[in-house]
Amino acid sequence: MKKLFTEFNIKNIKMKNRICVPPMVVGFRPDGYVAIENVERYEKLAKGGAGLIIQEATCVNNDGKLSGNQLGIWEDAQIEGLKRIVDVVHEENCPIFLQIHHAGVVGISNDPMCPSPYEYKNYAGNIVVGRVMTSEDIKSIQDDFIKAAGRAYKAGYDGIELHGCHAYLISQFLDKKVNKRTDKYGTNPEKFVIEILDEIRKTTPKEFVVGIRLGGFEPLIEDGIHYAKILEKSGIDFLDISYGFMSEQEMHVDKDYKYSNAVYAAQKIKEVVSIPVFAVDGINSAEIAEQILTDTNVDIVDIARGFLINPNWANDAKEGKDTGKCLKCAKCMWFGQSKVCAGKVIFEKNNK
Ligand SMILES: Cc1cc2nc3c(=O)[nH]c(=O)nc-3n(C[C@H](O)[C@H](O)[C@H](O)COP(=O)(O)O)c2cc1C
Repeated sequence: MKKLFTEFNIKNIKMKNRICVPPMVVGFRPDGYVAIENVERYEKLAKGGAGLIIQEATCVNNDGKLSGNQLGIWEDAQIEGLKRIVDVVHEENCPIFLQIHHAGVVGISNDPMCPSPYEYKNYAGNIVVGRVMTSEDIKSIQDDFIKAAGRAYKAGYDGIELHGCHAYLISQFLDKKVNKRTDKYGTNPEKFVIEILDEIRKTTPKEFVVGIRLGGFEPLIEDGIHYAKILEKSGIDFLDISYGFMSEQEMHVDKDYKYSNAVYAAQKIKEVVSIPVFAVDGINSAEIAEQILTDTNVDIVDIARGFLINPNWANDAKEGKDTGKCLKCAKCMWFGQSKVCAGKVIFEKNNK
């Protein structure tokens, strides 16, 4: 392991290795406040040896939630609970960023908003057409993101990650197949997020890290690359590359490519930027993680479901032990600590 267990810095934030636990919503309370279970979960993850944790999508507005039990950061009173998570993670000498999020039209709001009318089939199978955002709506939601970043700083997070993919509000702006606006937020789809970034810079100290989870295919890889370059120029600190906008994205990936589509997008983006780039998806062993770092030149690997199966993933990988394997049963999607996770059952049986 020549690279996986080497140190890395994002601005002043020191990572002891190249392993990041990316955001994974595992909800416990319906009011957006931190439960003791959230604190215990992050403490366990921090003890597991990762170089960085990015906390799950935490909503900037009660009306922008993606699921009932999602954490929130829309009011000051939520800071205290969030700080408990930060403190237990820092206690283990692990930095933590907070992913801040608004679901837009794909959320659970009774009056979901979208940059333009967009037909979305929700989890119940109903077609939802988003209410078109007015300029006042845009300003107000941007303000929610900016205030959420300020609260994250107050809670002690080392930085934030803007949730800019997976079909949520920021990617609804970025994706030209969804955003058909004719105002400046349509002619320059990145304006929505860049204005948020600029204001966060003005309201938080310069050492506070601000990155983005960006869709590599929005809808094409060329768009992912285009936005990555613009965001780098605008001063974003890192790019965590994923994708996932249902049928809107178009992946044209070489059929012999060895890794996942998301890793492909991260590789292509790393070729044109010099800020840190994270790769994700299906990285289910230390060997594959190492190969990806070497072959693609990305800086950090995200291990998501691996850490759901085995919260001690990074320590076990370092010691050459069994880390467990995701069997892609998809049972975890909204039940992060599901007892029926097939990979977890096998891992625990083999490592009693
Ligand atoms: C239970 C669960 C919750 C997730 N929640 C989030 C989230 O809050 N924000 C996000 O950007 N991605 C989320 N994801 C996606 C993961 O961060 C990751 O991109 C995905 O699982 C692929 O990585 P893996 O193959 O290592 O699991 C979630 C995934 C799972 C399994």
